[in-house]
Amino acid sequence: MFTRVEPAVHGALDFAELERLGIQPDEVLDFSVNSNPFGPSPAVRAAIAAAPLDRYPDRESLALRRALAERLGCLSEQILVGNGTAELIWLAAFANLAAGDQALILGPTFGEYERSIQIMKASAQNLNASVASSFQPNIPEIDQKLDSTNFQVVFLCNPNNPTGQVLSIETIGAWADAHPETLFIVDEAYLAFVGGMESALQLRRVNILVLRSMTKDYALAGLRLGYAVGDEQVIQKLTAIRPPWNVNALAQAAGLAALNDETHQQVTLAQLQEEKHLLLEGLTALEFAPLPSRTQFFLIPVENGATFRKGLLRQAILVRDCASFGLPRHVRISPRKHAENLRLLETLKKLGVR
Ligand SMILES: Cc1ncc(COP(=O)(O)O)c(C=O)c1O
Repeated sequence: MFTRVEPAVHGALDFAELERLGIQPDEVLDFSVNSNPFGPSPAVRAAIAAAPLDRYPDRESLALRRALAERLGCLSEQILVGNGTAELIWLAAFANLAAGDQALILGPTFGEYERSIQIMKASAQNLNASVASSFQPNIPEIDQKLDSTNFQVVFLCNPNNPTGQVLSIETIGAWADAHPETLFIVDEAYLAFVGGMESALQLRRVNILVLRSMTKDYALAGLRLGYAVGDEQVIQKLTAIRPPWNVNALAQAAGLAALNDETHQQVTLAQLQEEKHLLLEGLTALEFAPLPSRTQFFLIPVENGATFRKGLLRQAILVRDCASFGLPRHVRISPRKHAENLRLLETLKKLGVR
Protein backbone atom coordinates (compact mmCIF):
# COMPACT_ATOMS: atom_id res chain seq x y z
CA MET A 1 0.00 0.00 0.00
CA PHE A 2 1.36 3.41 -1.00
CA THR A 3 2.20 5.61 2.01
CA ARG A 4 1.77 9.33 1.56
CA VAL A 5 4.65 11.10 3.25
CA GLU A 6 5.16 14.85 3.06
CA PRO A 7 8.58 16.05 1.91
CA ALA A 8 10.87 17.43 4.61
CA VAL A 9 11.82 21.10 4.41
CA HIS A 10 15.52 21.79 3.85
CA GLY A 11 17.83 24.75 3.47
CA ALA A 12 19.73 25.47 0.23
CA LEU A 13 18.41 27.06 -2.96
CA ASP A 14 14.91 26.26 -4.17
CA PHE A 15 15.40 26.75 -7.91
CA ALA A 16 11.67 26.95 -8.68
CA GLU A 17 11.16 29.61 -6.01
CA LEU A 18 14.06 31.65 -7.40
CA GLU A 19 12.55 31.41 -10.90
CA ARG A 20 9.24 32.75 -9.55
CA LEU A 21 11.08 35.66 -7.91
CA GLY A 22 13.15 36.35 -11.03
CA ILE A 23 16.45 35.75 -9.17
CA GLN A 24 19.33 33.89 -10.81
CA PRO A 25 20.69 31.03 -8.62
CA ASP A 26 24.26 32.29 -9.14
CA GLU A 27 23.36 35.67 -7.61
CA VAL A 28 22.23 34.19 -4.29
CA LEU A 29 24.43 34.22 -1.19
CA ASP A 30 23.35 31.06 0.58
CA PHE A 31 23.65 31.22 4.39
CA SER A 32 20.97 28.53 4.73
CA VAL A 33 23.17 25.52 4.04
CA ASN A 34 25.73 24.38 6.61
CA SER A 35 28.59 23.67 4.21
CA ASN A 36 32.21 24.69 4.02
CA PRO A 37 31.88 27.93 1.99
CA PHE A 38 35.51 27.88 0.84
CA GLY A 39 34.86 25.22 -1.79
CA PRO A 40 36.58 21.88 -2.34
CA SER A 41 40.31 21.25 -2.56
CA PRO A 42 41.82 21.84 -6.04
CA ALA A 43 42.79 18.15 -5.92
CA VAL A 44 39.09 17.28 -5.83
CA ARG A 45 38.41 19.27 -8.99
CA ALA A 46 41.32 17.50 -10.73
CA ALA A 47 40.07 14.08 -9.61
CA ILE A 48 36.57 14.80 -10.92
CA ALA A 49 37.94 15.93 -14.27
CA ALA A 50 39.88 12.68 -14.56
CA ALA A 51 37.03 10.36 -13.49
CA PRO A 52 35.71 8.12 -16.30
CA LEU A 53 32.18 9.08 -17.33
CA ASP A 54 31.51 6.17 -19.68
CA ARG A 55 32.10 3.35 -17.21
CA TYR A 56 29.88 2.28 -14.32
CA PRO A 57 31.33 3.16 -10.95
CA ASP A 58 32.68 0.58 -8.53
CA ARG A 59 29.45 -0.61 -6.96
CA GLU A 60 31.24 -1.33 -3.67
CA SER A 61 33.14 2.01 -3.50
CA LEU A 62 36.08 -0.18 -2.46
CA ALA A 63 38.94 2.30 -2.74
CA LEU A 64 37.03 4.94 -0.81
CA ARG A 65 35.92 2.47 1.87
CA ARG A 66 39.49 1.25 2.31
CA ALA A 67 40.79 4.81 2.62
CA LEU A 68 38.10 5.61 5.18
CA ALA A 69 38.74 2.38 7.10
CA GLU A 70 42.43 3.22 7.36
CA ARG A 71 41.66 6.68 8.76
CA LEU A 72 38.96 5.47 11.15
CA GLY A 73 40.85 2.38 12.35
CA CYS A 74 38.13 -0.09 11.40
CA LEU A 75 37.47 -2.70 8.70
CA SER A 76 36.17 -1.66 5.29
CA GLU A 77 33.35 -4.20 5.93
CA GLN A 78 32.16 -1.87 8.69
CA ILE A 79 31.60 0.97 6.22
CA LEU A 80 28.89 1.66 3.66
CA VAL A 81 29.26 4.67 1.36
CA GLY A 82 26.09 6.47 0.32
CA ASN A 83 24.81 9.03 -2.14
CA GLY A 84 24.88 11.60 0.65
CA THR A 85 24.08 10.93 4.29
CA ALA A 86 20.40 11.37 3.49
CA GLU A 87 20.46 8.07 1.59
CA LEU A 88 22.05 6.35 4.59
CA ILE A 89 19.40 7.75 6.93
CA TRP A 90 16.75 6.20 4.71
CA LEU A 91 18.62 2.88 4.41
CA ALA A 92 19.10 2.74 8.19
CA ALA A 93 15.36 3.22 8.72
CA PHE A 94 14.38 0.81 5.94
CA ALA A 95 16.68 -1.91 7.28
CA ASN A 96 15.75 -1.57 10.94
CA LEU A 97 12.11 -0.51 11.18
CA ALA A 98 8.82 -2.22 10.42
CA ALA A 99 5.20 -1.09 10.63
CA GLY A 100 4.19 -0.44 14.22
CA ASP A 101 7.76 -0.13 15.58
CA GLN A 102 8.60 2.75 17.87
CA ALA A 103 11.36 5.20 16.98
CA LEU A 104 12.60 8.14 19.02
CA ILE A 105 13.98 11.40 17.60
CA LEU A 106 15.92 13.80 19.80
CA GLY A 107 14.87 17.17 18.45
CA PRO A 108 14.42 19.74 17.20
CA THR A 109 16.46 18.27 14.37
CA PHE A 110 16.93 17.26 10.72
CA GLY A 111 13.62 16.39 9.02
CA GLU A 112 14.64 13.24 7.15
CA TYR A 113 14.70 11.09 10.32
CA GLU A 114 10.97 11.48 10.83
CA ARG A 115 10.26 11.08 7.15
CA SER A 116 12.19 7.79 6.92
CA ILE A 117 10.30 6.49 9.97
CA GLN A 118 6.96 7.47 8.41
CA ILE A 119 7.83 5.70 5.17
CA MET A 120 8.25 2.50 7.19
CA LYS A 121 4.86 3.11 8.89
CA ALA A 122 6.65 3.05 12.21
CA SER A 123 5.71 5.45 14.97
CA ALA A 124 7.95 8.51 15.51
CA GLN A 125 8.14 10.09 18.95
CA ASN A 126 9.89 13.44 19.18
CA LEU A 127 11.55 14.60 22.36
CA ASN A 128 12.55 18.21 21.84
CA ALA A 129 15.01 20.29 23.80
CA SER A 130 13.50 23.58 24.87
CA VAL A 131 14.28 27.12 23.84
CA ALA A 132 14.43 28.03 27.55
CA SER A 133 17.61 25.94 27.91
CA SER A 134 19.09 27.23 24.62
CA PHE A 135 18.19 23.79 23.24
CA GLN A 136 20.60 21.87 25.46
CA PRO A 137 19.28 18.29 25.59
CA ASN A 138 17.55 17.41 28.86
CA ILE A 139 19.39 14.20 29.78
CA PRO A 140 17.15 13.02 32.69
CA GLU A 141 14.08 13.51 30.49
CA ILE A 142 15.70 11.48 27.68
CA ASP A 143 16.72 8.75 30.19
CA GLN A 144 13.12 8.51 31.31
CA LYS A 145 11.78 8.38 27.76
CA LEU A 146 14.20 5.60 26.83
CA ASP A 147 13.13 3.60 29.91
CA SER A 148 9.44 4.10 29.12
CA THR A 149 9.27 2.48 25.68
CA ASN A 150 11.06 -0.25 23.72
CA PHE A 151 12.42 1.86 20.89
CA GLN A 152 13.67 -0.06 17.88
CA VAL A 153 15.66 2.92 16.74
CA VAL A 154 16.79 6.26 18.22
CA PHE A 155 17.91 9.03 15.87
CA LEU A 156 20.20 11.65 17.29
CA CYS A 157 22.19 14.28 15.49
CA ASN A 158 25.50 15.15 17.15
CA PRO A 159 26.38 17.99 16.87
CA ASN A 160 22.77 18.83 16.29
CA ASN A 161 21.25 20.62 13.33
CA PRO A 162 19.86 23.31 13.75
CA THR A 163 20.85 24.05 17.38
CA GLY A 164 24.60 23.35 17.30
CA GLN A 165 24.33 21.55 20.65
CA VAL A 166 26.54 18.57 21.48
CA LEU A 167 25.93 15.40 23.51
CA SER A 168 28.94 13.74 25.17
CA ILE A 169 29.89 10.30 23.93
CA GLU A 170 29.75 9.10 27.55
CA THR A 171 26.03 9.90 27.58
CA ILE A 172 25.45 8.16 24.24
CA GLY A 173 27.50 5.15 25.40
CA ALA A 174 25.50 4.87 28.62
CA TRP A 175 22.22 4.87 26.65
CA ALA A 176 23.55 2.22 24.25
CA ASP A 177 24.60 0.01 27.19
CA ALA A 178 21.30 0.45 29.03
CA HIS A 179 19.25 -0.36 25.89
CA PRO A 180 21.08 -3.13 24.01
CA GLU A 181 18.04 -3.94 21.84
CA THR A 182 17.82 -0.38 20.52
CA LEU A 183 19.86 0.82 17.55
CA PHE A 184 21.24 4.32 18.19
CA ILE A 185 21.76 6.09 14.87
CA VAL A 186 24.19 8.92 15.52
CA ASP A 187 24.34 11.43 12.69
CA GLU A 188 27.74 13.13 12.86
CA ALA A 189 27.31 15.11 9.62
CA TYR A 190 28.77 18.22 11.31
CA LEU A 191 31.42 16.64 13.55
CA ALA A 192 34.35 18.14 11.62
CA PHE A 193 33.02 21.65 12.21
CA VAL A 194 33.50 21.32 15.99
CA GLY A 195 37.19 21.34 16.84
CA GLY A 196 38.27 18.42 19.04
CA MET A 197 34.84 16.81 19.24
CA GLU A 198 34.84 13.12 20.13
CA SER A 199 33.04 10.69 17.85
CA ALA A 200 30.60 7.99 18.97
CA LEU A 201 32.73 5.71 16.77
CA GLN A 202 35.19 5.51 19.64
CA LEU A 203 32.53 3.69 21.66
CA ARG A 204 32.60 0.71 19.25
CA ARG A 205 29.20 -0.55 20.36
CA VAL A 206 27.27 -2.98 18.16
CA ASN A 207 24.08 -0.96 18.65
CA ILE A 208 25.56 2.37 17.57
CA LEU A 209 25.54 3.23 13.88
CA VAL A 210 27.45 6.40 13.03
CA LEU A 211 26.58 8.43 9.94
CA ARG A 212 28.98 10.95 8.47
CA SER A 213 28.69 13.39 5.59
CA MET A 214 31.51 14.46 3.30
CA THR A 215 29.06 16.79 1.56
CA LYS A 216 29.46 19.53 4.17
CA ASP A 217 33.04 19.70 5.45
CA TYR A 218 34.65 18.89 2.09
CA ALA A 219 32.28 21.22 0.22
CA LEU A 220 30.81 18.57 -2.11
CA ALA A 221 27.15 19.61 -2.00
CA GLY A 222 26.81 19.40 -5.79
CA LEU A 223 27.95 15.75 -5.68
CA ARG A 224 26.86 14.63 -2.20
CA LEU A 225 28.68 11.88 -0.38
CA GLY A 226 28.30 10.20 3.00
CA TYR A 227 29.18 7.01 4.85
CA ALA A 228 27.85 4.84 7.63
CA VAL A 229 30.17 3.09 10.10
CA GLY A 230 29.10 0.39 12.52
CA ASP A 231 28.95 -3.26 13.37
CA GLU A 232 29.55 -5.48 10.32
CA GLN A 233 26.11 -7.10 10.58
CA VAL A 234 24.32 -3.77 10.85
CA ILE A 235 26.22 -2.49 7.82
CA GLN A 236 25.35 -5.70 5.94
CA LYS A 237 21.64 -5.07 6.50
CA LEU A 238 21.89 -1.60 4.96
CA THR A 239 24.13 -2.80 2.13
CA ALA A 240 21.64 -5.52 1.20
CA ILE A 241 18.91 -2.99 0.36
CA ARG A 242 20.82 -0.08 -1.15
CA PRO A 243 20.12 0.88 -4.77
CA PRO A 244 22.65 -0.47 -7.29
CA TRP A 245 25.67 1.74 -8.10
CA ASN A 246 24.42 4.16 -5.46
CA VAL A 247 27.58 6.27 -5.44
CA ASN A 248 28.63 7.68 -8.80
CA ALA A 249 32.22 7.65 -10.06
CA LEU A 250 32.71 11.41 -9.65
CA ALA A 251 31.68 11.34 -6.02
CA GLN A 252 33.96 8.36 -5.28
CA ALA A 253 36.92 10.07 -6.96
CA ALA A 254 36.14 13.35 -5.18
CA GLY A 255 35.89 11.62 -1.81
CA LEU A 256 39.28 9.94 -2.21
CA ALA A 257 40.95 13.17 -3.31
CA ALA A 258 39.35 15.10 -0.45
CA LEU A 259 40.64 12.58 2.11
CA ASN A 260 44.12 12.95 0.65
CA ASP A 261 44.09 16.71 1.20
CA GLU A 262 43.23 17.03 4.87
CA THR A 263 45.18 20.31 5.04
CA HIS A 264 42.60 22.03 2.84
CA GLN A 265 39.85 20.94 5.21
CA GLN A 266 41.77 21.94 8.34
CA VAL A 267 42.75 25.37 7.03
CA THR A 268 39.31 26.25 5.67
CA LEU A 269 37.38 25.04 8.73
CA ALA A 270 39.69 27.00 11.06
CA GLN A 271 39.05 30.09 8.93
CA LEU A 272 35.33 29.41 9.11
CA GLN A 273 35.45 29.48 12.93
CA GLU A 274 37.06 32.95 12.75
CA GLU A 275 34.34 34.08 10.37
CA LYS A 276 31.71 32.74 12.75
CA HIS A 277 33.07 34.89 15.59
CA LEU A 278 33.20 38.02 13.42
CA LEU A 279 29.68 37.43 12.15
CA LEU A 280 28.39 36.87 15.70
CA GLU A 281 30.00 40.15 16.76
CA GLY A 282 28.42 41.96 13.82
CA LEU A 283 24.97 40.51 14.55
CA THR A 284 25.25 41.37 18.22
CA ALA A 285 26.18 44.94 17.28
CA LEU A 286 22.92 45.03 15.27
CA GLU A 287 21.12 43.93 18.46
CA PHE A 288 20.42 40.37 17.42
CA ALA A 289 20.92 37.75 20.13
CA PRO A 290 22.47 34.65 18.50
CA LEU A 291 22.13 31.47 20.57
CA PRO A 292 25.27 29.65 21.71
CA SER A 293 26.33 26.84 19.36
CA ARG A 294 29.37 24.58 19.07
CA THR A 295 29.03 24.36 15.28
CA GLN A 296 29.70 27.04 12.68
CA PHE A 297 25.93 27.55 12.20
CA PHE A 298 23.73 29.09 14.86
CA LEU A 299 20.17 30.19 15.52
CA ILE A 300 18.97 33.74 15.99
CA PRO A 301 15.57 34.66 17.41
CA VAL A 302 13.55 36.92 15.08
CA GLU A 303 9.98 38.20 15.05
CA ASN A 304 8.88 35.94 12.18
CA GLY A 305 11.29 33.56 10.46
CA ALA A 306 9.34 33.28 7.20
CA THR A 307 9.02 37.08 6.78
CA PHE A 308 12.66 37.58 7.73
CA ARG A 309 13.77 35.02 5.14
CA LYS A 310 11.55 36.49 2.42
CA GLY A 311 12.85 40.02 3.03
CA LEU A 312 16.45 38.89 2.67
CA LEU A 313 15.75 36.65 -0.33
CA ARG A 314 14.47 39.65 -2.27
CA GLN A 315 18.02 40.97 -1.76
CA ALA A 316 19.41 37.62 -3.03
CA ILE A 317 20.45 36.47 0.44
CA LEU A 318 19.14 33.17 1.79
CA VAL A 319 18.83 32.16 5.46
CA ARG A 320 17.04 29.12 6.90
CA ASP A 321 13.57 29.83 8.22
CA CYS A 322 13.24 27.33 11.10
CA ALA A 323 9.44 26.87 11.09
CA SER A 324 9.86 23.27 9.91
CA PHE A 325 11.88 22.56 13.07
CA GLY A 326 8.93 23.90 15.08
CA LEU A 327 10.76 27.21 15.55
CA PRO A 328 8.85 29.83 13.54
CA ARG A 329 10.58 32.64 15.46
CA HIS A 330 14.14 31.57 14.69
CA VAL A 331 16.35 31.54 11.63
CA ARG A 332 19.55 29.54 11.18
CA ILE A 333 22.62 31.14 9.69
CA SER A 334 25.81 29.44 8.55
CA PRO A 335 28.78 31.78 8.05
CA ARG A 336 30.31 32.31 4.62
CA LYS A 337 33.45 34.10 3.40
CA HIS A 338 34.37 37.43 4.98
CA ALA A 339 33.07 39.82 2.28
CA GLU A 340 29.85 37.79 2.01
CA ASN A 341 29.25 37.99 5.77
CA LEU A 342 29.77 41.75 5.57
CA ARG A 343 27.14 41.89 2.83
CA LEU A 344 24.69 40.06 5.07
CA LEU A 345 25.35 42.50 7.93
CA GLU A 346 25.03 45.55 5.66
CA THR A 347 21.78 44.24 4.20
CA LEU A 348 20.32 43.56 7.64
CA LYS A 349 21.26 47.07 8.71
CA LYS A 350 19.76 48.60 5.57
CA LEU A 351 16.50 46.62 5.80
CA GLY A 352 16.20 47.13 9.55
CA VAL A 353 14.53 43.71 9.85
CA ARG A 354 14.22 42.00 13.20
C1 LIG B 1 22.02 16.44 10.11
C2 LIG B 1 22.10 16.17 8.66
N1 LIG B 1 22.30 14.92 8.23
C3 LIG B 1 22.37 14.64 6.93
C4 LIG B 1 22.25 15.62 5.97
C5 LIG B 1 22.29 15.25 4.53
O1 LIG B 1 23.59 15.25 4.08
P1 LIG B 1 23.94 14.81 2.60
O2 LIG B 1 23.85 16.01 1.73
O3 LIG B 1 25.33 14.25 2.71
O4 LIG B 1 22.95 13.78 2.19
C6 LIG B 1 22.05 16.94 6.36
C7 LIG B 1 21.89 18.01 5.34
O5 LIG B 1 21.41 19.09 5.57
C8 LIG B 1 21.97 17.23 7.74
O6 LIG B 1 21.76 18.47 8.18
